[in-house]
Amino acid sequence: MAVVPNTIFSPETAARFDKLASIYPVKRSALIPMLLYAQDEVGYVSDEVVAELAKRLDLLELDVRGVLSYYSMLRTKPAGKYNVQVCTNISCMLRGGFELLDHCKKTLGIGHKGVTPDGLFSLEEVECIGACCWAPAVQVNYDFHDDLTPAKMDAVLADYAAGRGKDVK
Ligand code: FES
Repeated sequence: MAVVPNTIFSPETAARFDKLASIYPVKRSALIPMLLYAQDEVGYVSDEVVAELAKRLDLLELDVRGVLSYYSMLRTKPAGKYNVQVCTNISCMLRGGFELLDHCKKTLGIGHKGVTPDGLFSLEEVECIGACCWAPAVQVNYDFHDDLTPAKMDAVLADYAAGRGKDVK
């Protein structure tokens, strides 16, 4: 295991990474989970994250960036505190997903991958999030909101803005 004396991560995350790097027969198999945990802690996959994960897994930074650029759920820029992901895939599209996305764009004043000036919300158009039976569906951070209408979406956004969102700790 590569020794990383000056880690950028919290002791808990660094310990989790030490473990992840040791449990797979091929060390680089730990890369995607590590990228996701790093993104949760740092807010995005920064250059420093790339450098440390490459060192931890004995990879080139280019290898890490190759994986990073493939997965749309990994970000290289900070998202808002609440990342609003609107599904426009087939079930959601048929039940108003695009209208919901347009509504969010108008309400938040930002486009796809945009962040509100106060950093509270970011917006993304995403592919299926596995909630097709309850379309149209939106994911905010790790929480799902479904069977939405523009009016219900307004209430969801207002709850987060007021600190009452589903996953507000
Ligand atoms: S198509 Fe939107 S959740 Fe599956």
